[in-house]
Amino acid sequence: MGRATLHPPVAATLAVGLRQLVADGRLPVGGRLPAERELAAALGVSRVTVTSAYRRLREDGWARSRTGAGTWTSLPDRSGVVAAFVPGSPRDGTVDLTYASPSGPPEVAEAYAAALEALPHLLPGHGYAAGGLADLRARVAERMTGRGLPTTTEQVLVTTGASAAISGALRAVVRRGDGVLVEHPTWPNAVDKLRAQGARVVPVPRDPAAPQGTGGFPAALDRAARETAPALAYLVPDFANPTGAVLTVDERRRVVASLHGRGVVVLADETLADLALDEDDPALRPPLASVGPDGAVLTAGSLSKSVWAGLRVGWLRGEPSLLARVAAAATREHGSLPVVDQLAACVLLDRLDDALVGRRERLREQRDVLVDALRERLPTWEVPRPPGGLSLWCRLPRGTSSSAVTEAAERHGLFLSTGSRFGVGHAFDEHLRLPFTQPVPVLLDAVERLVRAAADADRAWGAPTTSRTGAVLG
Ligand SMILES: Cc1ncc(COP(=O)(O)O)c(C=O)c1O
Repeated sequence: MGRATLHPPVAATLAVGLRQLVADGRLPVGGRLPAERELAAALGVSRVTVTSAYRRLREDGWARSRTGAGTWTSLPDRSGVVAAFVPGSPRDGTVDLTYASPSGPPEVAEAYAAALEALPHLLPGHGYAAGGLADLRARVAERMTGRGLPTTTEQVLVTTGASAAISGALRAVVRRGDGVLVEHPTWPNAVDKLRAQGARVVPVPRDPAAPQGTGGFPAALDRAARETAPALAYLVPDFANPTGAVLTVDERRRVVASLHGRGVVVLADETLADLALDEDDPALRPPLASVGPDGAVLTAGSLSKSVWAGLRVGWLRGEPSLLARVAAAATREHGSLPVVDQLAACVLLDRLDDALVGRRERLREQRDVLVDALRERLPTWEVPRPPGGLSLWCRLPRGTSSSAVTEAAERHGLFLSTGSRFGVGHAFDEHLRLPFTQPVPVLLDAVERLVRAAADADRAWGAPTTSRTGAVLG
């Protein structure tokens, strides 16, 4: 930190800056902060300013002091935070950007009508289908084969969304105390699952904006694998949540070769793989499992983002022996899977490519409207335009905290997830995930609420003005 990073009110920006250094791990937790007098002299500010910043950090749990002994960094207690990432019910007059899941298209109802017509053929049977209906597994296998990953029906297990596929794979491969690499930031529920299982979560930075000079993400993964000897790596190669980042063909090869070479099982989550949004996007990138030997990569997929999360239909691809173990555990847990949903999923998969054309077009428009509006109304924010997926991963100006913005936003009827929800520990408080899954008028309304919330947060925390006009709007 230097004097140049501090803006009035200086004590508040100093507190935010120090807090972000602790959250990022750049200042070690439990490390001693400089004496107040020393820091004041180094930054050219008054001692009262530093005293007040340290007090703020202590009040928020980011520092502890002993009279006369000094001040140490610490982390706020988050033990009371419930780790579950499920959106709440809609409330009139508010905008909820805590979830990134598009509404269901009319084809869902049509598919269920067709499923009900097909149902009588199955009624004479017992209704249990361990591993899923053969017709559905065959369609998933066919779709994977079409994407360049030759797959048989036996290599596909139907699951209750990608969530159950991921949980099943983790239970089959990861033991308590095992290390698991996750890209960082990542889908929060994966981290919650790993924690619940007693895994050691090892975050590996995957920053789509980072220069590639150091070998980028594959090199970082390789380093982490070498140093921590993990059992598994959980990756979202296509249009990751929250960044929308995609691995290049070369990165895919390097990642799989290095992790397989070090005996690390890769779990590729393809939940968002259908959501390429750039019209000039090059041809489909090969699935991660297609660039490694058999058994090196497990693949989870779902209809949740390509069609609708309410379906709860997903799948896991892997070697039949591993799938049998996953299926046995799933059967012990909840018996079997709903038949009508699987029949509807067959119909939806048959029409998926056509349906995706419209879905991508809508998402592309929503992405572009949100990016343009944010860049216009909050010009000091870094707002990237991701190549696909469902959300923007915005970097806030230095000194602005996404928890402060999220807190302020609620007073304007806007619900957000803080950036740190997508990190391990307290990282990413300077980021905000903004999904573009809702219609354009809702997104534009959300931006106006956000401008007001950001201005409130800046006033409370003392970051530079974020609105172009400088005034509080509305
Ligand atoms: C990367 C990723 N994987 C999996 C899921 C959950 O998928 P499903 O609804 O199929 O369980 C999500 C939902 O947000 C996600 O973003």
